[in-house]
Amino acid sequence: LIFLPKLHGKQLITVENLQDTQGTLHPVQQYVADGNGVQCGFCTPGIVMSLFGHYKTELPAEREEIEDTLSGNLCRCTGYQPILESAIRALSERQSDAFSESEHKTATQLKSIAETAVKLNTDKQYYALPLSLEQVFEEMKAHPDALVLDGATDVALRVTKMNEFLPEIIDLSNLSSLKEIKHSHGSLYLGAGISVNQLMDLTKDAFPAIYKICKRFGSKQIRHLATVGGNLSGASPIADLTPVLMAHKARVTLTSASGQREMELESFVTGYRQTVLQFGELLTQIEIPAIPQGVQIATYKVSKRKDLDIATVSAAFRLELNDAKHIHKAKLIYGGMAAMTKHAIETESFLEGKEWKRETVEAAALQIRKEFSPISDARSGAAFRSIVAGNLFIRFWVEQNERG
Ligand code: FES
Repeated sequence: LIFLPKLHGKQLITVENLQDTQGTLHPVQQYVADGNGVQCGFCTPGIVMSLFGHYKTELPAEREEIEDTLSGNLCRCTGYQPILESAIRALSERQSDAFSESEHKTATQLKSIAETAVKLNTDKQYYALPLSLEQVFEEMKAHPDALVLDGATDVALRVTKMNEFLPEIIDLSNLSSLKEIKHSHGSLYLGAGISVNQLMDLTKDAFPAIYKICKRFGSKQIRHLATVGGNLSGASPIADLTPVLMAHKARVTLTSASGQREMELESFVTGYRQTVLQFGELLTQIEIPAIPQGVQIATYKVSKRKDLDIATVSAAFRLELNDAKHIHKAKLIYGGMAAMTKHAIETESFLEGKEWKRETVEAAALQIRKEFSPISDARSGAAFRSIVAGNLFIRFWVEQNERG
């Protein structure tokens, strides 16, 4: 889901565009048709477009990559085998297609279009796509009630599911200053407009717990749009990135027309969808510090299905041992257990100085279950959430000890 003005500076290709001017199907379409991969009229166009996206990248024609590409295309009624086999064949034999010749020219044209700021003003709606922070602050001043967004994968649902009318929007997605990435002494500095897919690529080696949770974030299509800043600023109690970034002791930079301030991510979220952001202020940068030697961080997400689902319960754990046996400090951070991302504070104090052994962990799991009063909702009952929250900590211990 994207708002129409977001197409500014983009090329929109629909499934009807894929065949060339002579009416020859795109190789992806042909292979899916020949390989008996055709599904219903809802599924097939989506599956073909996802595979077309894959076709136009350097991504390998491997099953795991293709499954990830198709993670946003959920079919309720059949197996994926013929689709996967057709996809592997099409992607293994990639060659130029109807788009290849004009690709460079199109990209250059789009780049110059994207470099212009946009203001769409109708009787009912206002939509601005500024290019600089200065322009954003001017827009916020002129439109104090406007919704400020970036990826908007969450906000768009308010329109499609709740039929909400959003009269004024300031969209940050064309701000290049929010897409900067810096590495320094093992720490990672990210502009708030970095997509979750980019975060996933950046964290694969140095921050594996972040990489792991990114892989469980929506689907590839959603990860391309969703931004790190958007996920944190939305302050949802089940935001995927908040617990793991808190476990990494991430810091955030907030910027307004009058200056900047920095703080721990811990202090940024204050309640259910509430942050410390004041009027005229934006989250602009996230710092993920290098992980000190001896610190272990792990993260878990429990949801009804693996792909394209929101968390029922999530957890991020940070463990520092004094020696191989005793706990110096433990941080246990949960999503889905309260109105906001929350530490199991009493359990953390209980663990301090204790021996890192199964009995300690089982006692901690009981403590965790007492510490939270989660709600029952469509995703799960309160009892399930409490049991799972404790069990995830036991699983962390098992995984650490299995690794020796
Ligand atoms: Fe379309 Fe399964 S074929 S929902």
